[in-house]
Amino acid sequence: MRPAIIAASICSLTLVTSCGWLSDHTPDLVSCATEIAEGVRPIADSRPDRFHGKVQANTAKCRGGSNAIAYREVPWTDWSNYWATRDNGSKSLFATKNLRGVNGSLIDLEYARVELIKFNLFDNSGTYQRYVNGDNGTDGAAVRTWPEMRLPPTNPAFAAVGGAAAEQHCKGELIRYRTLGGICNDTQNPLMGSSGTLFARNVQFETTFPDRGLDETTRNRHGGRLALLSPDPQVISRKLFTRAQSDSASCNDGYGKPGYAKDANCDYKKAPFFNVLAAFWIQFMTHDWFSHLEEGHNAPQYMAVGCATKRVNGADTPLSPDEVTKLGCRPGDQIDRAFVADSSAPKKFASGGREYLTRAPSVFKNSNTAWWDASQIYGYDDISAKRVKRDPADRARLAMVVPPNAKTAGDRQGYLPLLATSDPQLPDWAGQESAAFPDNWTIGMSFYHNVFSREHNQFVSAFRAYAFEHPDDDSGLRDPANPHAIVRYRNVNADQIYELARLVVAAEIAKIHTIEWTPQLLYDEPLFRGMNANWSGVVQHDTSIKVLLADVVNHLAKSNKATVANSWYSVLASGPGIVGLGSQKENWDVSNEADVNGGTNHFGSPFNFPEEFVSVYRLHALVPDLLEYRELPTANAISAKIPVIETFRGRATGFMHDRGLSNWALTMGRQRLGVLALQNHPRFMQNIKIDRLHSPTKQIDIAALDIIRDRERGVPRFNEFRRQYGLRTLTGFDDFIDQHVDKKSADYAEQQKLVATLREVYGQHKCDAKKVITHAQLTAAGDSITDCLGHADGSMVDNVEDLDTVVGWLAETTRPHGFAISETQFVVFILNASRRLYSDRFFTSSFRPEIYSTMGYNWVNNNGPMAQVERVPINGHASQPVSPLKRVLLRTMPELAPELDQVQNAFDPWARDRGEYYTLNWSPRKGAENDEAFRRPLAETRRP
Ligand code: HEM
Repeated sequence: MRPAIIAASICSLTLVTSCGWLSDHTPDLVSCATEIAEGVRPIADSRPDRFHGKVQANTAKCRGGSNAIAYREVPWTDWSNYWATRDNGSKSLFATKNLRGVNGSLIDLEYARVELIKFNLFDNSGTYQRYVNGDNGTDGAAVRTWPEMRLPPTNPAFAAVGGAAAEQHCKGELIRYRTLGGICNDTQNPLMGSSGTLFARNVQFETTFPDRGLDETTRNRHGGRLALLSPDPQVISRKLFTRAQSDSASCNDGYGKPGYAKDANCDYKKAPFFNVLAAFWIQFMTHDWFSHLEEGHNAPQYMAVGCATKRVNGADTPLSPDEVTKLGCRPGDQIDRAFVADSSAPKKFASGGREYLTRAPSVFKNSNTAWWDASQIYGYDDISAKRVKRDPADRARLAMVVPPNAKTAGDRQGYLPLLATSDPQLPDWAGQESAAFPDNWTIGMSFYHNVFSREHNQFVSAFRAYAFEHPDDDSGLRDPANPHAIVRYRNVNADQIYELARLVVAAEIAKIHTIEWTPQLLYDEPLFRGMNANWSGVVQHDTSIKVLLADVVNHLAKSNKATVANSWYSVLASGPGIVGLGSQKENWDVSNEADVNGGTNHFGSPFNFPEEFVSVYRLHALVPDLLEYRELPTANAISAKIPVIETFRGRATGFMHDRGLSNWALTMGRQRLGVLALQNHPRFMQNIKIDRLHSPTKQIDIAALDIIRDRERGVPRFNEFRRQYGLRTLTGFDDFIDQHVDKKSADYAEQQKLVATLREVYGQHKCDAKKVITHAQLTAAGDSITDCLGHADGSMVDNVEDLDTVVGWLAETTRPHGFAISETQFVVFILNASRRLYSDRFFTSSFRPEIYSTMGYNWVNNNGPMAQVERVPINGHASQPVSPLKRVLLRTMPELAPELDQVQNAFDPWARDRGEYYTLNWSPRKGAENDEAFRRPLAETRRP
């Protein structure tokens, strides 16, 4: 049986159950029956056959009735038009239809994930040829170890893992905890994911660096129109990214008013269901996952960054001084070029009558560990580790300084110490609180580093308290050197408790991100279910089935056939969930490598983030210019407007110490973040001052830089990017207009204006229908996609193929309900977010008391020291576990208890009424009727 059949069996079951429901007398039943009769869609064998998230008419009708049929012709995926995938208005009176809608969505998403795993893994470190050709009878996509992932002789642990022996294996102390540089997460591929390894790709190597025109289709696609500074990135930023202001003086380019006067105002498009805590959360995450920079800087060479030309009739034409002034860009800005690890010509190889590149034409290093290991707090190399301060009185704890004026229970847990002058640092970082990852620090980074450092110490205190009371109890830990001896609490030393706290904090962070941040980012029922399935499985309440399924899945992963090891595996893994896969074995033994390491799956390609992932996490538009500052206990009142830029770098310290962590929690918890849309970037980011820059202005436009960096790293442009990920091609800028919107509305008119601006900035060209522009997709009729994108040969077509990917996904107004990101960003996420869990043994086979300690293991599962997770009703679910971040906030700032009382998800604005079922309405919950944030006109809160 093929994986498609498994997915479809679930589908048919759902349909049959529902279709057999006698009270459901709709013509949709006929569609359901026809859908079943039509049979199952197989997993694609080749790229052009991929599932594009577009289903047959009968399937659409069966899952969403006429509404789903109405939007089948647009390029955007279908599932968000099914029943019950939006708010109450999308629900049918018949529960069975709602079930079909939600389950149908999950099936579509699983098809997408299976095909993403199959078609979108491209490793840059030398393993790709084996991935294509296989290895001694094992399909390439089922290979599990790679010589390229051995530690080199220069690594201090080289000898410990076996040196030059045929196989390297991590053992002993190297496998007990997360290592500083990230080695030995996979005990048989010690180098994988460690600091300094190469970023991967999710797109065919030949499609990268489109401006270099590596093959004929790429040259056909872009017609010589692309270069690093063309179209001009600062012009793109000013025309397409700038937040319009109703009163420029009140905003003052993001600097607000003197004395932080509360009548300052910077307009921005706000997301009603996502708060500022969520914006800084994701920056905090990216600082854990990846960095192209080293110690806050790039390569020594400098380059200009635009504000020089505009497109006129297809040609770049110099801007006049008047135009420069009017745009507000700066020709004098310069930035240091991106580091390049290797730009020598990649080798080629032939397979199946085709020629392949062995890697992308230029490759780049991730200077961070790729693991979800809280390395932004604990360090990722020897230099960053020097900034991590441990408490000299108890080395298990992180150093925290209690201020003399400590007022609250939270304050008495202390604040991070400052960077010492002897610490490695850029002069720009002077006066900052000490953290392993100190770059781009603001009050937001200060907030999360303080919260999780306090949480670290909370765990240490709990562990110490228990050890004091019960010194002879079994801690649950086991030492690989003496695996059968009980490790008693009294025998766990300070360094070991420190490492346990790191494991726990990293896992808590991963859990918060997976089941709290993401379901709020993607605020609808299918994604709520999908994310919870990722973490704890769809059969989370039935332990015996969970263990059984986990065992099956684990066996599948060992197959030498890619279909079994990857496709079947992925479909079935949602049963038990990814976390804990391979850990439920009886007699699990820390000295048995198969137990410790056996639950991971890398799908034939060593894990690291792809460049495309970095690109879709360029989320600078989330950040507001001004923070609406509040203080406990008068939570409903905004007492000041504090510019984010005033809290940049060392200036965050004073704001944090003077005003207190819990007031910042309240401030950021209640305020809405910025929608990821065009013309919604913070003003301050376009004009930021960075002292380390050797340029005339010492300023940079970060929004323009986002575009430049993607071009330097060869991210394909928007349309090819979508095709590579199995999404439909756009035929022009008009496809961006959301067809759900009333054509007479202001929203529709605004979208038309934006389309006109896209056309103005990127231009049009006369098309040539002889030029084939891609091999990744065919038209719906099965023909090649050409330069004319379905328009008449020789007609003028939009340069939609040239659109920078960041611009493209910001322009996507057609989105699934409650999606703060676009569907293009989302597919990147579907693939990489689950891989980040599948590949990490600390979340799979080593998620065990023997590694985390019993207390640590329970702490992660129960969101803290309580025996049980509290449960509350959420969005129609009678009982759901309370959000893990809420528990962390309550532990680290007990004074927040009254404010958090009604909070269900810490990333939903804290004073918003969540209503019954995924409403996006901006109305106050009980007790917050007087909150000033609800006084603004409703029209301002447009749907993202
Ligand atoms: C006030 C807040 C922020 C500031 C001052 C800031 C500043 C910067 C700067 C200067 C860079 C460019 C580095 C370079 O390539 O030379 C950058 C890159 C980046 N930023 Fe931000 N940022 C902020 C918030 C955020 C947020 C909320 C996100 C959300 C995820 C984010 C995600 C990224 C990403 C993904 C990169 C690329 C990093 C890399 O290439 O390794 N930033 N940021």
